[in-house]
Amino acid sequence: MTAPRSKAKLAYANSFSRSGKPEFGGLKPAFRTELGALFVGDCLPIIRSIPDESLDLIITSPPYDGQPKYGDGERYDRLWYKGFFLDVTSELLKKLKPHGSFVLNYRSKRHGGERGLLQYELVFWLREQGYLFCEDFIWGKPSPPPGRFNRFLKDAVEYCFQFAKTPGWQFFPEHCLKPARWDAKDRERRKRLAHNYIRVNEPSGQGRKRVQAGPDLVRPSTLIQLEPEFSPNPTLHPARFPVGLPRFFIQLLTSPGQTVFDPFGGTGSTAVAAESLERRWVLTEISAQYASVLPDRLQTGR
Ligand SMILES: C[S@@+](CC[C@H](N)C(=O)[O-])C[C@H]1O[C@@H](n2cnc3c(N)ncnc32)[C@H](O)[C@@H]1O
Repeated sequence: MTAPRSKAKLAYANSFSRSGKPEFGGLKPAFRTELGALFVGDCLPIIRSIPDESLDLIITSPPYDGQPKYGDGERYDRLWYKGFFLDVTSELLKKLKPHGSFVLNYRSKRHGGERGLLQYELVFWLREQGYLFCEDFIWGKPSPPPGRFNRFLKDAVEYCFQFAKTPGWQFFPEHCLKPARWDAKDRERRKRLAHNYIRVNEPSGQGRKRVQAGPDLVRPSTLIQLEPEFSPNPTLHPARFPVGLPRFFIQLLTSPGQTVFDPFGGTGSTAVAAESLERRWVLTEISAQYASVLPDRLQTGR
């Protein structure tokens, strides 16, 4: 994890809104750094106050299907998704810049003997709203948490659906190159094969002249392997994602200085990732208790 940065200190600095006003969208954040602002409250009215076409990336993990509503005994069911959540996504589409993406981390629960279909319904619903469905990334958890599974195995995957506003969505695979899996010996051996070529261009894997074994650094795949979040959880949030997850998408889909938004911000994992990558960020979270850990997390960088 990146070391804590001085910018992450509790500093009430200049706003980054287009208007240049010290309050984003006319509303006062509960907490602010030089790069970002956290709003505590229902995300929908706050989203409405964000200027249109001002967000470069939205990444979020809304409450899981069937999860108890925080504090009020209700559950986040399909109707909540079909109603409130689609109102949120419809507003978000307006707030995205034309090159922006919306990454939705989601996993339907199992119901009886079946996997819930809400994760797939969401894709169709968002397309009906006008989003383009760009990609389905898989977050694979090497050691998923134990539980009672009856006839099912431990659930080790979640979806991260990437949607965009236009086909011209921005994309920076060069920000998140990974070491190639080939060792040097294997690469040398493959270079000698007649049908291989020496690459001369970018390490993107897309060039015409390339060694089949790949360069030293290659584009990541759509399988993101990350352990679930094990870091301290003082507010006992039931469903945090690891900072590495927003970190991956922020690198892939934005440049430094651009703006990332998480409407269901929880304990602020998206803000921690954005801050360490020098992106601007906006978070909303309805629970003041969950949101309260963000200043400490920004100080420690985790
Ligand atoms: C799955 S959690 C997100 C966790 C977050 N990614 C993290 O790593 O901490 C979903 C969050 O949405 C929040 N939430 C639910 N309804 C909301 C609303 N109307 N506006 C803002 N936040 C809401 C919940 O309190 C919960 O913390």
